[in-house]
Amino acid sequence: MNQTPLKVAVTGAAGQICYSLLFRIASGALAGDRPIELRLLEITPALPRLEGVVMELDDCAFDNVVNIEIGDDPRKVFDGVNAAMLVGSMPRKAGMDRSDLLSANGKIFTGQGKALNDVAADDVHVLVTGNPANTNALIAMNNAPDIPNRQFSALTRLDHNRAKTQLAKKLGVPVSEVKKMTVWGNHSNTQYPDVFHAEVAGAPVGDKIEQSWLENEFIPTVSKRGGAIIEARGASSAASAAHATVECMHDWLFGTPENDWVSMSVVSEGQYGIPEGLIYSMPVTCSNGDYKVIEGLEINDFSRAKLDASAAELEEERKTVTELGLI
Ligand code: NAD
Ligand code: LMR
Repeated sequence: MNQTPLKVAVTGAAGQICYSLLFRIASGALAGDRPIELRLLEITPALPRLEGVVMELDDCAFDNVVNIEIGDDPRKVFDGVNAAMLVGSMPRKAGMDRSDLLSANGKIFTGQGKALNDVAADDVHVLVTGNPANTNALIAMNNAPDIPNRQFSALTRLDHNRAKTQLAKKLGVPVSEVKKMTVWGNHSNTQYPDVFHAEVAGAPVGDKIEQSWLENEFIPTVSKRGGAIIEARGASSAASAAHATVECMHDWLFGTPENDWVSMSVVSEGQYGIPEGLIYSMPVTCSNGDYKVIEGLEINDFSRAKLDASAAELEEERKTVTELGLI
């Protein structure tokens, strides 16, 4: 077991996702028994609230937490970090699309990308949860020219988990039996949860599913789940988002399970005809801190149209942030 503390930065640390996330990280969900140093970033007015959260972390007496630092200066907080979970940004309210947050949230990721570029450890892994996550990750990546593009990703693990559960319920099987789910594209309503390569108990599920269920129930339920939660809770998903964030970073750093893959939004190198440079959700396996996109999956006409629609939306978002001068 590596006893060197893993330095983990988390932004938006006084917000609702982090009220779950920090306690999951501290209790070992990220790195098992490896010592953790937490670096928590907030905006200045939220620092008193963050101090309260740190009091609670202290009161848990977590064995693995060797140090906690807080601050409002990304250049100090990100100094030497090995992992950065960029959660801090405004959530959408009922009636909004995530892309409506682009101009408000996008600029957060220019400064944070630059700070990571200058002070983070060479092996830093940057995972963006704050919405619109894919294009915020694109902004951070483009503002960090010295960090390899492969060290940036955006969270679509929540969508992946949502899709697995909906499929398990439909087939009446435990969710643990569902493998090789794929979510393609943007963390938005155009995302495409794809069951055509999924397996249940080792067998393909494609022919057990009616196309009408896919089109009228499964895809809309998964892709609009964030909005349904906002309607029901009056606030966006928090505990499930925290869980997905910690799982995604865990798998990226320490590896995905055998005989399965996960969905991560990573920089396209042109795989599956997706324009290069977009941060696009794809099926990946991870080992030794790196990911590998699963290549060679057959894409039918129905899937092709969905992949292209989400890529077109991400190209529009890239155009918008280019015009805003953020990349
Ligand atoms: P929240 O409003 O409860 O917390 C956000 C926190 O970020 C606040 O405490 C705020 O002070 C802080 N913040 C704002 N600007 C900052 C900056 N420049 N640096 C550091 N901190 C900053 O929101 P939340 O519910 O925790 O959600 C956070 C983000 O995550 C939202 O954008 C939300 O839409 C997104 N989200 C994404 C997913 C996903 O699957 N990708 C899932 C759920 C939520
Ligand atoms: C989610 O998918 O739950 C989050 O992105 C929050 C949202 O705005 O939908």
